[in-house]
This record gives sequence, structure tokens and C-alpha cells, in this order.
Amino acid sequence: MTTAQRVVLPDSVRTNGTTPNPWWSNAVVYQVYPRSFQDSNGDGIGDLKGITSRLDYLADLGVDVLWLSPVYRSPQDDNGYDISDYQDIDPLFGTLEDMDELLAEAHKRGLKIVMDLVVNHTSDEHAWFEASKDKSDPHADWYWWRPARPGTTPGEPGAEPNRWGSYFGGSAWEYCPERGKYYLHQFSKKQPDLNWENPAVRRAVYDMMNWWLDRGVDGFRMDVITLISKRIDSAGRLPGEYGSELEDLPVGEEGYSNPNPFCADGPRQDEFLAEMRREVFAGREGFLTVGEAPGITVQRNEHITNPANGELDMLFLFEHVDFDCEDNVKWKPLPLDLPQLKRIFAKQQSAVKNAGWASLFTGNHDQPRVVSRWGDDSTEGSRVRSAKALGLMLHMHRGTPYVYQGEELGMTDVHFTRLDQYRDLESLNAYRQRVEEAKVQSAESMMAGIAARGRDNARTPMQWDGSAYAGFTAPDAAVEPWISVNRNHTQINAAGEFDDPDSVYTFYKRLIAIRHENALVAAGDWQLIDADDQYVYAFTRTLGGEKLLVAVNLSGRTVDLPRDAAELVQHGVTEPDIVISTYDASHAVVSLANRELGPWEGAAVRV
Ligand code: GLC
Ligand code: CA
Repeated sequence: MTTAQRVVLPDSVRTNGTTPNPWWSNAVVYQVYPRSFQDSNGDGIGDLKGITSRLDYLADLGVDVLWLSPVYRSPQDDNGYDISDYQDIDPLFGTLEDMDELLAEAHKRGLKIVMDLVVNHTSDEHAWFEASKDKSDPHADWYWWRPARPGTTPGEPGAEPNRWGSYFGGSAWEYCPERGKYYLHQFSKKQPDLNWENPAVRRAVYDMMNWWLDRGVDGFRMDVITLISKRIDSAGRLPGEYGSELEDLPVGEEGYSNPNPFCADGPRQDEFLAEMRREVFAGREGFLTVGEAPGITVQRNEHITNPANGELDMLFLFEHVDFDCEDNVKWKPLPLDLPQLKRIFAKQQSAVKNAGWASLFTGNHDQPRVVSRWGDDSTEGSRVRSAKALGLMLHMHRGTPYVYQGEELGMTDVHFTRLDQYRDLESLNAYRQRVEEAKVQSAESMMAGIAARGRDNARTPMQWDGSAYAGFTAPDAAVEPWISVNRNHTQINAAGEFDDPDSVYTFYKRLIAIRHENALVAAGDWQLIDADDQYVYAFTRTLGGEKLLVAVNLSGRTVDLPRDAAELVQHGVTEPDIVISTYDASHAVVSLANRELGPWEGAAVRV
């Protein structure tokens, strides 16, 4: 841990609320996807003991917090985002004792652990849902049960309460013969939405959260937490339901309407989050809350993360990873429009200038690998250079950076070519629906779309070394990993990068250290330079009388520095001015003197 070298940020860093300068304002979070991180028992699936065995690696990298994707008991329909018991560990991953051990070993190394909290929905195998099927049970109203449309046959097409589609394909409603009603599921039909209107549901969730915090976890990453409050009419009816005062939207090309405008950031969002803060976090210290926030505007991000409002510490916004596709269809990827990306980040950064906070990410378990998406993984040289450039670009913003496992190695997309290589229900359902049922995309184009955007790109095993299964599971394990290891693990792996001064790993280590050591990077005001430049992403950070120029060439050609950036370095810079650069510092000095940047060259320099 680097606590000793840490700067104490000036309190003026956050003048906006009740907790100036919280501990996480210069922390870096690392996301572990347990299923794919480290297998300790040769069953081909990563587990808690595996994570514990790799803590020294994470401590060396220098991150402060680990966010674990869900390890609770689950039928694994959506890899654990479908929870059947919140207060137990799935046997696939280990036991509660393994979790206690992981917590203790992490804390020994100064690492905090944040768990995923999936409470927009449970699994359909959760005891609450089982009980809810009985209309006389106290849990009867814990989910969104609705009758079939009058005059239809329940279970037949067209009988659904409204036209909403699920994010994982098909209708968002599933008929349950036992209850004689439909239930709402925004995600898979094994992920029924909880009814947050019911105070008993909220009480149960808060009790469960308190139980984990008492056990030693340091906070929560809250899965789709901005979908919990649904828009309903005066009689509690959802849009488009029979007799509802609210209409749903017209149907799209797959035959369903989009529930998001009615479920995202709903009318009781602030009330629920503030209640959770009071019921769970009041009187506790040293925790972190981060909400996954589809459908949230930058203004609302400011409100929710302003400590004065007592809701969440930070949110994940998605516009910057959702815009680079055609007609809003994830499976029709477009190349990066850099000016557009800059505008989106600028909007996010400016909105939290005076109040609230930003989280910074380009990768997670739902996104393709950033080096393949916006960088260039076609040669080893361009892969290393572009991975560093993208890391520098992100980490020099103001906010809390998140590193997704393997990103620090410059891990790439997996480039699968056959459907049977994929495991993710989202990709498999989307293929069936778009290619076979609605016939709105050709097989070839859809395969290309999944290869570019499918979530399995992020979920292939962590590449620890060049051995048969990349060190993820024993090379002689009887069972193959649950999803294939990327073939490039023989070249790209932690063992090869660990001691290499020029590796992506070593570069990320430095990026993380800089956030701890440098108040300008952690807290300085952010200002974009030349929004329209197609190749260079440049901005400044200022704090007190100090100024940092960050300029990153996000292209594989040599390009001119934008004029306003060139002006800041017109009197030249020296090596000591270079805080970090993707080539070496002496190269950056020459490039900046020539007012240019080499392929994927980037630097942060005091001016
Ligand atoms: C979030 C998770 C994603 C999951 C979905 C449903 O978006 O990040 O992995 O499939 O919620 O829980
Ligand atoms: Ca295992």
C-alpha cells in the first residue's frame, strides 16, 4: 500500500457538502469478475480462494478497493446477477468462511472490498419469489404481478400486461400459471423485478446490507440501482397496462417497447436512496457506495452524488460507452468519434465541478476490451501503445478511476468466430431474436456485432501466465475453463509484464500511484482543449497556481498538437515537468517541442 506517500488533499477539493475530502477522492478501484479471475480447485471456475491467492498482485498494482461481481448463491442464469440467497456464498465460489478470509487478508494489505448489490431484481429461485407466487402469502406483493390483458388468453402472445421488452430479448413479462398472473422482469425471466413500492421489500434489503457491512465489507456497487422506482399512475398501474393513465412507447424493430424511460430514475429514486443511506450507512465510516446508473443525466448525477443530499458517493454513467453504435443498437458498432467522446466526458466533468463526483471507467464485465474497441490490438506495438494512451486519457480526469481485471495488462477482445464459443445469455438471446426471429440483422453482421461488443470479451479468464490455461486454472486440470482462454495469453500475461518497465502493467501502476501522490491529478479543475480535434484528446487540470496539461494522441499516426495545447508549451518543457508519458519522458520533451505527438503518444506535463 502506498498510504505513506499519499497527499492529503486540500479540503477545498470538495466544498460542496458535509464530507469534504472523503477517503475515496484519490482512490482507485479494481473490479474482479470472480468467475474469471482465478480458479483454486480445478473446476474451471474462478473462486474466492483464488482471489485471496492473488491479493499480493493487487496490492503491488497499488489499487485501494476491490469490487467483486456477485458471489452470492445463484442459479447463475446471468453469472450471479440473479441471486437466490443474499446471505450466502454460491458453492461455485466457496463458502462464507472463504469470504471472511478474503476480507481479512484484503484488509491486512490495506485493500477494501466492495460487493455487488443486485436488488432491482432477485432470482426467480429466491425464497421471496417462491413465496410470492402464493397470493395469500405476506410476500405476495414483493414483485410486480399483473393480470393478462382482458379478453386474452393468459400466456398467449398479446396477453402481456404491456408491450415492454426485456434487455435480454423478448417480452419483459413472464406468465406464472401458479399465481395466474404475469411478473415483470427488465432482464432475464429468471430475474423478476422487486417491488420497491412495498416498504417490507426495502426493509429486507436494508437489513441484508447491514448484515454484510457488520461482517466487514466496505461498501456496495449497486447494480442497475436507478431502475428501482417505476413510474405508475394514481392507481398504481404501469404505463400501457389496461386502464392505465400512462401510455407505453411505440414498439421497436424487435416488436417490443422500451421500458427505460418509465423505469430509469423514477419518481421515488431520491427518496429510496436517501432512505437507504439513513437505514444502512448512518454512523458508519470508511465505506464506498457506487450506483450503476443507466438512464441518468449528468445533472441528476450531480444531485445524487452531492453529499448534501445524502444518497450515493458516485454513479456509473453510460453515455460514453453507449454512443458508438448505429441507431442505438448495441450490435451495430461504429468506429470511435473522438470529438463526440470528448463532448460526453466534458459534460460529465463539468456537471460535477462544484458538487457531486464522477466515476471514471472504460471497461467492466459488460463492455468489450477498451484496447480492442478504441485502441489498436492488431500488432503488439500498437496494442501496448494504445492501451497506455487510453489508460492515461481516462486516469487524468477528475473522479474515481475503475480498472477492470486484465485492463492493466492491455488484455484484448477474444475474437471468437462461432456462436457456440459464447456463454453470455445477452449475446445468445440477441442472436436468436435479431437473426432468427425478428430477422432484422444478418447472421454475418450480428456475429461481427457480438465479436465487437459482446460481454464475453471481458469475461475470458485472467491471463496470469503463458501456460495452457493462462494460470487461471492448473494446466493439467481435468475440466476446461468455463469459457475459453484468449489464445493470445502466450504473449499477453501478468508474468511477462510484471517486471517489464515498458509494460502496460507498469504504466498502470504508475497511473495509480500518481493519483495517490499528486493533488493536481486527484483534485484539479478539469478543462477541455479543442473539442473538435479528431486525433488528440487534450485538457488541463488546475489547482491553486498549478497547471497540468494532458495531451493524448488517440490515433496511430503522428499528429500536430492542437493550437491551444501548443501555446501552453511554447517555452518548452523539461523532463522533470513530465508527470507521466506513454513513451519515455525524453521522447515527450522532443515531441512537445516539435508541437506534435507520435502514434498513440500521450503525456501529462506541468506547464
Ligand atoms: C447490470 C450488470 C449486468 C447484469 C444486469 C442485470 O447491468 O452489470 O452484468 O446482467 O445488470 O443484473
Ligand atoms: Ca473453482
